[in-house]
Amino acid sequence: MTDHKNIISLTGACLTLDSSAGPVNILKDVNLAITEGETVGIIGPSGSGKSSLMSLMTGLEQVTSGTVTVDGLSFTGMDEDSLARHRLGRIGIVMQAFHLIPTMSALENVAVPLELQGVNDAFERAAKELELVGLAHRMDHYPAQMSGGEQQRVALARALAPRPKILFGDEPTGNLDGKTGRTVIDLIFDLAQKRKSTLILVTHDPALADKCDRVISMADGHIIDDTGNTRSVTGEKSSIPAGAKK
Ligand SMILES: Nc1ncnc2c1ncn2[C@@H]1O[C@H](COP(=O)(O)OP(=O)(O)OP(=O)(O)O)[C@@H](O)[C@H]1O
Ligand SMILES: [Mg+2]
Repeated sequence: MTDHKNIISLTGACLTLDSSAGPVNILKDVNLAITEGETVGIIGPSGSGKSSLMSLMTGLEQVTSGTVTVDGLSFTGMDEDSLARHRLGRIGIVMQAFHLIPTMSALENVAVPLELQGVNDAFERAAKELELVGLAHRMDHYPAQMSGGEQQRVALARALAPRPKILFGDEPTGNLDGKTGRTVIDLIFDLAQKRKSTLILVTHDPALADKCDRVISMADGHIIDDTGNTRSVTGEKSSIPAGAKK
């Protein structure tokens, strides 16, 4: 059996944030290991801690206690600048809101992270990424001139342009109608598979979770169920039933 490396691991991860009503324990002793190349769906009711868990894995939030290691680097004690550098080229993020820069064209939006990486053919590469998401004809359009599905495809091209090892999506189809959402999801899975990226998707959509190798269920700041990897990293479903492998 091939031994695949853990690209993400959390041990005893707790996240406590202050609110006006006092400290809130948002994540409580989360232990999780994700293998390189897995596709993981994170589900659970609103407020269960899905986005917070994603924030720990992307380094947007730091654990209050416990450890988070991503692609061999411990996030503990890292400052914002070092975390931002570590994210670049390793981690791509697509959110429910597209977060495009309104004063920049589609092409410029996608070129931004490449320029930050110091890539010298940033615009050529950005153009290729936009072609891959089917937007060759929209490169010079501004976000306000594009539909929601087109804007999300630009956001996806921007997230994937630096060739991240891990792509995170937090309800990436939450603002799209069903049909447009499915197009974006198919693209996400297709591109992640082609590039052998690890894919981690927070979703409320059971059909989307079902496309993932592994589904993690959260409730009240805990992982309450984890199907484990029921599919080999090549994308073939194995015969292990969901829930049999913890
Ligand atoms: N900055 C904050 N300060 C205090 N509490 C917070 C903060 N951010 C989130 N929370 C609380 O943490 C809990 C988990 O929030 P989180 O956003 O992770 O939930 P979620 O599972 O992503 O929910 P949804 O499906 O609605 O997006 C919620 O109860 C929320 O109110
Ligand atoms: Mg959320």
